Amino acid sequence: MSQSSSAKSILVLHGPNLNLLGSREPDVYGRVTLDEINARLTTLAGANGAKVCCFQSNAEAELVERVQQARADGTQFIVINPAAFTHTSVALRDALAAVAIPFIEVHLSNVFAREAFRKESFFSDLAVGVISGLGAAGYEFAVQFALTGMASRHP
Ligand code: DQA
Repeated sequence: MSQSSSAKSILVLHGPNLNLLGSREPDVYGRVTLDEINARLTTLAGANGAKVCCFQSNAEAELVERVQQARADGTQFIVINPAAFTHTSVALRDALAAVAIPFIEVHLSNVFAREAFRKESFFSDLAVGVISGLGAAGYEFAVQFALTGMASRHP
């Protein structure tokens, strides 16, 4: 087996407006920027012999296409914060169902303590699990879980 096909690979997807993290409603989403989150995840994965690919888009179609690409590029686990698409996107849900790659749904804020529409998710029932309200650390917990799960499946 070649190095590239055996490398543990996690795709981290960030939905709309998450490019503004750090300055966007910091009382809700914190002051950590998206670049800082991605850097932490890259370091965490690298320390465990894995790699992460981080992708953010404000466009639903681009996120759908990136999920479809994951089926061909060796992605073994997906961590996704669909952001506002959590509450609206059947297309992104269907893409994740189609590729059948296990994923964790992450939210920085506690969506259950906010407006009623944020309690509805098109993703949670398909997800391995959901992390909500732990800020940027939620992504790290999700990647840590993915690393542990992949290690047990691919010793
Ligand atoms: C969010 C929660 C969503 O309701 C919101 O639309 C976001 C971010 C979060 O990380 O807390 O953009 O997914």
